[in-house]
Amino acid sequence: MPTSPEGTGRALRRWSRKAQLYDRLTAPMERMLGFERAREWIFARVPKGRVLEVGAGTGRNIAHYPAGPVIVASDLSPGMLARAAEKAERVEGACRLVVTDAEDLAFRDGAFDAVIATCVFCSVPDPLRGLREVRRVLKNGGEVLLLEHMRPRGWLGRLFDLVDPIVNRVMGPHVNRRTLDTIREAGLILVEERNVFSDWIKLIVAR
Ligand SMILES: C[S@@+](CC[C@H](N)C(=O)[O-])C[C@H]1O[C@@H](n2cnc3c(N)ncnc32)[C@H](O)[C@@H]1O
Repeated sequence: MPTSPEGTGRALRRWSRKAQLYDRLTAPMERMLGFERAREWIFARVPKGRVLEVGAGTGRNIAHYPAGPVIVASDLSPGMLARAAEKAERVEGACRLVVTDAEDLAFRDGAFDAVIATCVFCSVPDPLRGLREVRRVLKNGGEVLLLEHMRPRGWLGRLFDLVDPIVNRVMGPHVNRRTLDTIREAGLILVEERNVFSDWIKLIVAR
């Protein structure tokens, strides 16, 4: 059970509403912030074996899925995953789509060699609970590969604190989450962190 069924219900409704237009609305931002290269970086590191993508959304990463591993693409929103299903039909690699809440993943302990998420822990209502679930389903020695935007340092961070309630209400994600701290608090160990766009958007490897 998620900690806040109300928050989860709100997230589900919000993301299902966005499913139809999501790819078109976010395409300019994707290009401007260099997300495509960041996604390539993540998938070049994916190990063989079983891989879970959390919050796969409309399946933006599916074109990058390598042929070797068995990949499970999961999301809270069936509407978002329906868009992912259209993309999955066009790729060769083995990919299974599963509707499940990141805060209460429907998988056994240690089921995956790697867990991937791109722009997800800004949106999961309780990111600490979600990242604890990621740790639970990860095999000993497995890797967590993330692309996340988070609260930048300095005046920009203070500005993000001010605008967060509006951005969250209008667009869905939070812009001032301290995701590196949450990763540590979830019991994961940070192995690598790279700035994609200032210290605002990062690629993260954790164990
Ligand atoms: C900003 S979108 C990112 C989608 C995709 N990963 C990408 O890179 O385009 C955030 C995604 O997180 C999903 N999400 C939000 N809360 C979730 C939860 N509790 N469990 C699983 N997915 C969730 C949303 O449905 C949405 O697809």
